[in-house]
Amino acid sequence: MRGLKGRIACITGAAQGIGQEICIRLAEEGAIIIALDILDTKSTVNRCREKGGHARGFVFDVTNKNQIHRVVQEIGEQFERIDIWVNNAGVFDNTATVALSEQKWDQISDINYKAMFLCAQPVIPLMQKNNWGRFINLSSMAGKMAYSEEIAYCSTKAAVLGLTRALAVELGCHGITANAICPGPIQTDMLKNTYQHLADINGVTLEEWSADILKTIPAGRFGKPADVAALVAFLASDDAGFINGQAINIDGGLVFY
Ligand SMILES: NC(=O)c1ccc[n+]([C@@H]2O[C@H](COP(=O)([O-])OP(=O)(O)OC[C@H]3O[C@@H](n4cnc5c(N)ncnc54)[C@H](O)[C@@H]3O)[C@@H](O)[C@H]2O)c1
Repeated sequence: MRGLKGRIACITGAAQGIGQEICIRLAEEGAIIIALDILDTKSTVNRCREKGGHARGFVFDVTNKNQIHRVVQEIGEQFERIDIWVNNAGVFDNTATVALSEQKWDQISDINYKAMFLCAQPVIPLMQKNNWGRFINLSSMAGKMAYSEEIAYCSTKAAVLGLTRALAVELGCHGITANAICPGPIQTDMLKNTYQHLADINGVTLEEWSADILKTIPAGRFGKPADVAALVAFLASDDAGFINGQAINIDGGLVFY
């Protein structure tokens, strides 16, 4: 157990995939879960409660500054603090550079990293009150590596690393850490949709495409949302209090820096 009992943990992109699993894991560790997503988070909230945890959901668009401030204010009024903020909401895109519209670029940037800045503004004072806090930001191995026709995804996930380091040096003296997580391929809808698209344009089946990728992963398997959730639980704990400004790979051995 990570000793998260009673911690107030807010997770964006919590309706499914990695975000849902983070909610469930932190609930198991005793945290009070605030599940945030543009989609309904009822299933996440119910699964946390089934584990004996406390959870509440909000419909929340990470690109909407007014909504962010309203929801953070409501959490602040109810609990008088926020301890853990996981910026997990994100979107993937694989459009060639010449085909990517400016509107799409802005949309991906707004969700994948500008949102982290917008959320940090009202959350920081609620962490500073207790001289304790954890920002955990989902980047990707694409934030360190580059992939063809992923200019928006690679750029925004690299920006997450810069934003995380900036938060880390600014907030470290307040007992607040900020760290980024760089997952490799994790089995979620996002990965399946991406691989299906790549399989289609390469004229192979999803199974054939996945099998080829699998051969490149030293661990010999794809990641599971639970793998990422376990890392989040550690970074959220007191044990991780001296880890700050890092970009931690969780990819079965694909990236070494
Ligand atoms: N799955 C992978 O292989 C993988 C690898 C590296 C990094 N990641 C990152 O992990 C995070 C979670 O990925 P996932 O695979 O679970 O994706 P997913 O598509 O299954 O879930 C993403 C969630 O974010 C929510 N979301 C999207 N836009 C939002 C918005 N504007 N406001 C609020 N919520 C919004 C969606 O509704 C969804 O519930 C993302 O940041 C992703 O880039 C995933």
